[in-house]
Amino acid sequence: MNDYMIELRDVTKRFGSIVANNRINLGIRRGELMTLLGPSGCGKTTSLRCITGHNIPDEGKVFIDGIDVTDVPTHKRELGMVFQNFALFPHMTVFGNVEFPLMIRGINKRERGELVEEALQLIRMEEYRSHHPRQLSGGQQQRVGLARALVYRPKVLLLDEPLSNLDAKLREEMRFEIRDLIDRMGITAVYVTHDQAEALALSDRVAVMNRGKIEQIGTPTEIYDSPQSRFIADFIGLSDFLEGTVSSIRSDRGAAIVKVDDLEIQVVAGPNMEVGKRALLFVRPNNVELFSKTHEGGTNTFPGEVEKITYLGDRNDYRIKLSNNIRLRVQSDSKALFRVGEEVKVCLLPDQCRVIV
Ligand SMILES: Nc1ncnc2c1ncn2[C@@H]1O[C@H](COP(=O)(O)OP(=O)(O)OP(=O)(O)O)[C@@H](O)[C@H]1O
Ligand SMILES: [Mg+2]
Repeated sequence: MNDYMIELRDVTKRFGSIVANNRINLGIRRGELMTLLGPSGCGKTTSLRCITGHNIPDEGKVFIDGIDVTDVPTHKRELGMVFQNFALFPHMTVFGNVEFPLMIRGINKRERGELVEEALQLIRMEEYRSHHPRQLSGGQQQRVGLARALVYRPKVLLLDEPLSNLDAKLREEMRFEIRDLIDRMGITAVYVTHDQAEALALSDRVAVMNRGKIEQIGTPTEIYDSPQSRFIADFIGLSDFLEGTVSSIRSDRGAAIVKVDDLEIQVVAGPNMEVGKRALLFVRPNNVELFSKTHEGGTNTFPGEVEKITYLGDRNDYRIKLSNNIRLRVQSDSKALFRVGEEVKVCLLPDQCRVIV
């Protein structure tokens, strides 16, 4: 027995010659919101469908609440599901839609009434109980979809891109609502998205998938601050990459120097670094500071020239060419003004420069 509410052990699922899931190992703890994140086609929905029972793995096993459900049909797994096309029944009212899963489970009318009212309160839609779906906004329909998935109190809630039909503003609002709802219910949830901002904002942990495999599992901070591969660093957030060679490592292994052409850049030393080995250095564009050319140099401060500026509202995005034609993307406060062609100094914050070996 372990603390996992859901566990995939060595799950492989093929479609013809495509390996959609390649030996997936994933444990989702009780009460945890785990997000499967990755580009289109990487196998997220396939994994979710292995949990629901819509896919039967070719190899490996699926456990829910400690029980091997690999051969248990979907309707016996007691899961709540919300999908991208959360089709509500158009001819039924909000009440009828939420009541539906209880009807097919043969629950009596009085109990149904109570459970539906409770679910409608949970999503703050009591006043809309008699409305039809066409009279609701996209966000309201989405909430009804959630209520319909939650009304029979499933052990687990599975959500596959549930916000992808909504506009950007509503998506952002709904993130918080979903998180809040899941917290209030204390339910275990698996959330599928290709939107990294959504994953970082919502999740307790994120499993990043690439080509049918899980590349890294961690908290949003771990994934963002310590990506374990170039793919992860590139996929999540913005990154500058510089290729160089490790030239020295401090004896306490706190810091190291990576030589990129003639630049000596101080980085946080990683466990696998070795002097003389190639190193891929990465830093987030908001961890590079810009100064005027008269600024005194400190650690990791190099001269450069502004090539391009893009205004982003709360910040500016600068393309900077360093002395040896290395290019960096820098994002900083839009109040600090530099011009295209201006000579500047850049500082790559040493405790934010990491090496992906
Ligand atoms: N029923 C199926 N028959 C054949 N191939 C499939 C089937 N389902 C998925 N695949 C293939 O498996 C791979 C993974 O698909 P999956 O739907 O899991 O991706 P995804 O990560 O959910 O992508 P998206 O973000 O676009 O929804 C894809 O190459 C897809 O074409
Ligand atoms: Mg999908």
